[in-house]
Amino acid sequence: MSSLTRRQLLALGAAGAGATVVGGAGLWWTTTSGTGDTGGADLIDPEVLVSRDGVLELDLIAAPTRIEVGGREASVQAFNGSLPGPTLHVAPGDTIRVAMHNQLRVWTNLHVHGLHVSPEGNGDNPFVSIAPGESFDYEFVLPADHPPGTYWYHPHRHGHVADQVAAGLYGAIIVEDPEPVPVTRERVMVVSDLTLDASGNLAEADRMQQMMGREGEVVLVNGQVRPQVTAAPGERERWRIVNACPSRYLRLQLDGQQVRLLSRDLGRLPVPEEITEAVIAPGNRIELLVDTAEGSSALVAAPVNRGGMDAMMGEGMMGGTMRGDNEPGNDEPIRLLTLEVSGDPVQTPAPVPEGPALRDLREEPITARHTLDFAMGMAGGMGGDRTMMGGEGGDEATTMMTFTINGQEFDPDRTDISVATATVEQWTLTNSSPMDHPIHLHVWPMQIVEDGDRDLSEPRWQDVVNVPAFGEVQVLIAFDDFPGRTVYHCHILDHEDQGMMGTVEAR
Ligand code: C2O
Ligand code: CU
Ligand code: CU
Repeated sequence: MSSLTRRQLLALGAAGAGATVVGGAGLWWTTTSGTGDTGGADLIDPEVLVSRDGVLELDLIAAPTRIEVGGREASVQAFNGSLPGPTLHVAPGDTIRVAMHNQLRVWTNLHVHGLHVSPEGNGDNPFVSIAPGESFDYEFVLPADHPPGTYWYHPHRHGHVADQVAAGLYGAIIVEDPEPVPVTRERVMVVSDLTLDASGNLAEADRMQQMMGREGEVVLVNGQVRPQVTAAPGERERWRIVNACPSRYLRLQLDGQQVRLLSRDLGRLPVPEEITEAVIAPGNRIELLVDTAEGSSALVAAPVNRGGMDAMMGEGMMGGTMRGDNEPGNDEPIRLLTLEVSGDPVQTPAPVPEGPALRDLREEPITARHTLDFAMGMAGGMGGDRTMMGGEGGDEATTMMTFTINGQEFDPDRTDISVATATVEQWTLTNSSPMDHPIHLHVWPMQIVEDGDRDLSEPRWQDVVNVPAFGEVQVLIAFDDFPGRTVYHCHILDHEDQGMMGTVEAR
């Protein structure tokens, strides 16, 4: 295994550029009349399923579905026929029972992203594989002290995760606050992206897109293109935003409104922080408090540079039009939705009470340390540019690309890290590649304790942590409660499917 040379990268870039030209020709939004900028419809809340007497029982059917996207018929895959699937609303201490039915043509399974629940048996077990036509009964038991917050569910069958999430299989999970935050209303906003071909079918990601991490052409909020929400001045809304895109980072901005950050991934901040923007990687969630002021504001996803081939090749090596494709996400700001605030001012809800202090693992003893290096490399020798490109295509280029952690690709039968339950470990996440990797650990959240020059005087908890290109981040993890075996991986789901995933077992 060797790192990519400049020459190999250049060859890959050329292969990718070719593929982009071909792929770009028949795209849905560009070939159908109009721009697809239908916009303006009211934001639709996904169906909410609420637990009763401590239990939420439901069927989730993963199946191909015809739905309307931006005013046109599209063939996607969805849970229970809707995109996103239903929102699961539970309280700490509740049990969620899901009968999951696979009506897809390939294997699948279900993961409850961010929930602190057992990874064993029919719990949040990423090694379960449900064959086409089969069903599986999951049971997730939330501890009584489970942190409130916004979480989500999506398939996690290795090798199919990016395809299935890109196709539309995801939904939100809300864990109630023991102490409610005073707001006028709450909204769930599941942000996703997808690419459809000229006839409204899901476009397949080519090899180059898989290598970079695919970014869909159309960015949706609750399955809608640029919907709108309305409010009166003086209201306070709580927005629960999920980044369900397979690879796209979102730099969220809402001009003209007072915005405070209430939560990152899990729990809530003791005191909401006033912000002007928030960058969330794939898999991350944030909760915002929006104190409405008269006017029209757009929620925008501004460009994020998450690295790419150009980072290693330098300026001028790639032609102008190729640049954007080699640095994904680095294009125009995207308007996600519009907030229209008008009418008579209403009485603002009571101030937000201070929440409980966050746990700080820096005060607890560390029992073990690990370093995990996330790398992109080449498997075997390189025969030069011609082999890289393999004539027609990208295929050989990416079979030769490797996505590794400490030099190894994912092997479900190998245990990479063993930990003792009820201990605190320090993990150093290093990235020796030219792209950012958002690193996610199941079951146990991470406290970021070192991340460039980020101010970490207040404890910062997340379950997806971005490790910048050629950068390093240090986290502390408390392996509380659950013995069992699970995974950590890059949440650019194409990278995960290509091997950037490892296993951890707590005993
Ligand atoms: Cu959101 Cu392992 O996943
Ligand atoms: Cu997860
Ligand atoms: Cu990655």
